[in-house]
Amino acid sequence: MKKIIIANWKLNGNINFIKKYSKEINKEINNFKKIELSISPPTIYLYYLKKKINKKITLTCQNIDINLKGSFTGETSILMIKDLKIKYIIIGHSERRKNHNENDKNITKKIIISKKNNIIPIICIGENINNYINKKSIDVCISQIKNTIIKNKISTKNIIIAYEPIWSIGTGKVANIKHIINICKNIKKYIYKKNKEKIKFIYGGSINHKNANEIINNNNIDGLLIGNSSLEPNELIKILKLIKI
Ligand code: PGA
Repeated sequence: MKKIIIANWKLNGNINFIKKYSKEINKEINNFKKIELSISPPTIYLYYLKKKINKKITLTCQNIDINLKGSFTGETSILMIKDLKIKYIIIGHSERRKNHNENDKNITKKIIISKKNNIIPIICIGENINNYINKKSIDVCISQIKNTIIKNKISTKNIIIAYEPIWSIGTGKVANIKHIINICKNIKKYIYKKNKEKIKFIYGGSINHKNANEIINNNNIDGLLIGNSSLEPNELIKILKLIKI
């Protein structure tokens, strides 16, 4: 199975950046047969990036509205994302939970409309530093999954769970492999017990080419969600080169 690498640009990039970035990545992408690279630029640039980037690279949207159409100034609909043939959508990122009122209720709605429109949701979960110190990481992650997917009887087929400890995002502190595997196994076990289904599990938080090796080459982990390091094509390529399985 191919490892999935999501490059989350967050609120970065412009036309010039996309031109240069695409050139660099397009030159290299044919060397990576066992990897699916998906790029997630700000929504406004999805269309332009799609025109510039090699067709082997898929696209991911950073956010959608819960409404499909109508009087919702400034929003983007899942139907528009489907229209552009975008493959994935990031839902429940901790930056959105913190700054944009993303909560279990609207996360659930976003998951449901994405699945209905055949866009694969990448559902972000993760604990804050206090939960981590108090050994509550598993409880927090399980409750985030329970309150969205399980309570609402959403099938976990074609869903990706992105484990992103909040204390690790953008801080330079990557979670250690034992902790990640422990979270991964507990989540997989919980979902299997409830749904009899398997999920894909990826990790995100301060990944760079120096710390990615052990994580990405572990059999339990299906991929990475990369923020800062994905903005530099050479750094991203260095991470892709580490992938051996
Ligand atoms: P980071 O971001 O790699 O910059 O820590 C990860 C993410 O928020 O997806």
